Amino acid sequence: MCIATACHSRTEREKAQANVPEFVLTYAENQAEDYPTTQGAYKFAELVYERTGGKIEIQVNAGGVLGDEKTVIEQLQFGGVDFARVSLSPLAEFVPKLNVLQMPYLYTSREHMWKVLEGSIGDDFMNSFGGSNLVALSWYDAGARNFYSAAKPIESLEDMKGLNIRVQESELMMDTIEALGATPVPTAFGEVYSGLQTGKIDGAENNWPSYESTRHYEVAKYYTLDEHTRVPELQLAAQPTWDKLSPEYRCIIKECALESAKYERQLWAAREKISENFVRNAGCVVTELTPGEKARFQEAVAPMYEKYCSDYVDIINAIMEAGKAMSAH
Ligand code: GCU
Repeated sequence: MCIATACHSRTEREKAQANVPEFVLTYAENQAEDYPTTQGAYKFAELVYERTGGKIEIQVNAGGVLGDEKTVIEQLQFGGVDFARVSLSPLAEFVPKLNVLQMPYLYTSREHMWKVLEGSIGDDFMNSFGGSNLVALSWYDAGARNFYSAAKPIESLEDMKGLNIRVQESELMMDTIEALGATPVPTAFGEVYSGLQTGKIDGAENNWPSYESTRHYEVAKYYTLDEHTRVPELQLAAQPTWDKLSPEYRCIIKECALESAKYERQLWAAREKISENFVRNAGCVVTELTPGEKARFQEAVAPMYEKYCSDYVDIINAIMEAGKAMSAH
């Protein structure tokens, strides 16, 4: 009895020890719990836990509780946060080459962007984070971004004039808004609703799911389908954290990040439709730019390619060629 008890308790202790994670790591996400990127993060954490036999536990902090994206990227750089999913716009302030992948009107379609990101160009970008103290893990989808405004619809380039448009904390985004004749107001994502409500900003721009989940449609009901940019997201690890992990753990993490990205993309496609229907039913007024007007928007931002891409002409040409080849089919 005694021996059996001792045995029993030893087994329990061993079991308990076996279940103690070797690493408990944090993951920052600025979207809501039910948002596709957050669900992707939970999938990532679950897969990592399973495949490391419970040795790595990743705690997902959604809703921006660990700070806005800029702050989170800074924290990643010294390991204050271990993982994050961020938009490429603020990230390019730290890794400027990434601007090339999010130039206005660069992609002709979602398929075009994914062909680029999943091909050798995307891989090269993933491998060009050296010196940033950030490790790129996988691309997440964030659809196309469109303008929205509070007082009246944006139907032409003239309608942009005089508007204060919220932008992400990104020089590229500021330049885009200026090129289109409006005034950029860099603002953290979590402050956009109040900015629209108080009239500090007249409008903003984002994809359907963000427009819906943040309830920006309540305070800016005019949504203009101009698709001025596709800004993918990246899952990142902190270099200081990465350096503490064994090659085996790194391999598992990378593999789980890629699997979670596939999952996120499925959720994303579904959510885009749900969000669009939701805001249309809620009374949001959707404007489609005429092809001629869209061409004027494109012409207005074309000079920006000189500033941001002159060191990457081959890459930008290859991206454009891939788009033309896809449209030809
Ligand atoms: C997207 C992206 C967020 C980002 C936001 C923004 O919604 O998913 O990570 O913060 O755009 O406009 O700031």
